[in-house]
Amino acid sequence: MVQANSEPLSLADYERAAQAVLGERARSYIGGGATDAITLADNQAAWSRLALAPRVFTGVAEPDPSVTVLGSRLPHPLIIAPTAFAALTHPDAEPGIARAAAATATTICLSTLASTGPAALARAVPDCRRWFQLYVFSDRGVTGELIAAAEAHGYDALVLTADRPVLGIREAELRHAVRGGEPAADGAVGGAAPADFSARIDPGVTWADVERLAAQTRLPLIVKGILTASDARRALASGAAGVVVSNHGGRQLDTTLSGADALPAVADAVGDELDVLVDGGIRRGTDVVKALALGARAVMIGRPVLWGLGVAGSDGARRVIEILLAELQNALALTGVARAAELDGSVLAPAPWARR
Ligand SMILES: Cc1cc2nc3c(=O)[nH]c(=O)nc-3n(C[C@H](O)[C@H](O)[C@H](O)COP(=O)(O)O)c2cc1C
Repeated sequence: MVQANSEPLSLADYERAAQAVLGERARSYIGGGATDAITLADNQAAWSRLALAPRVFTGVAEPDPSVTVLGSRLPHPLIIAPTAFAALTHPDAEPGIARAAAATATTICLSTLASTGPAALARAVPDCRRWFQLYVFSDRGVTGELIAAAEAHGYDALVLTADRPVLGIREAELRHAVRGGEPAADGAVGGAAPADFSARIDPGVTWADVERLAAQTRLPLIVKGILTASDARRALASGAAGVVVSNHGGRQLDTTLSGADALPAVADAVGDELDVLVDGGIRRGTDVVKALALGARAVMIGRPVLWGLGVAGSDGARRVIEILLAELQNALALTGVARAAELDGSVLAPAPWARR
């Protein structure tokens, strides 16, 4: 008799498995989108509206997935997006995600609102390549402390989130009164409900602050949450080294452009001067290929890592990344492209199904 394989094989399998094991609070916190969740759904749909135009007989047996980001060669273009309060999902929390990152040579971007602070994470998993995501607090002393901690503990970049001056309206979260759980070991902000941070994150940050931050730190500054060419140019003028084209996973302002649809104009405007990254709805290796073909140097992955963490702790997070990496290799080989870094618009074609 043939035995059915019940192991999750795809990120979608992990999503289903996570729905089954996570409690309502964690499910609504991770899964939620702003108001009608139109952008949340479109983030994923937009990648499937692009068709691939593969080349055959290119002799590519083993494609090289490596890319260059901030002047460093990375073995592949996957970066773990900053997500707050991983302890809500599984006790392995951010150290578990960081172990998964280290095992797969993936960079982890630690959230300011993580359940583990930057110093504690670095001590727990010293061998992971790491970036630190920054929110600017009304008390600039707290922001300064976070920057100093990131600089002192081996973080390679600061990722300043731009698209959350105030919290988006997430009804699922409001219904389930999501709280952050245990306080961060050495973070400045642990233990409160996500909504409580509205009072502490400065809603009045301007490009002048970005300029000051870029000048204040020796780390490269990446601005996350850019959706227009003009803002990408402002980031460049303010001293940023990169931008992440992102709508915060559809959790902030609903009915914005998806990452996939906003990326080409940003890459066009600043792609020669800045490292352009993208996130939102990336669930398949083919999505990563399309992101790179549209001008991104790397991609960030948010919810899928949390699904893996929720299902099987650090091992589950690692499996999610391994699955996506295997799919990326497969997609590169079948697209006939030798190097991920060489991907360009020639592998994309108008998708007839997107015009319907
Ligand atoms: C549960 C959760 C928490 C998040 N927390 C943060 C955060 O603290 N800082 C931040 O810049 N982005 C945060 N984000 C947004 C992610 O960094 C990323 O932009 C988004 O999740 C990417 O979309 P994806 O989940 O479809 O991959 C969060 C996203 C989720 C799902």
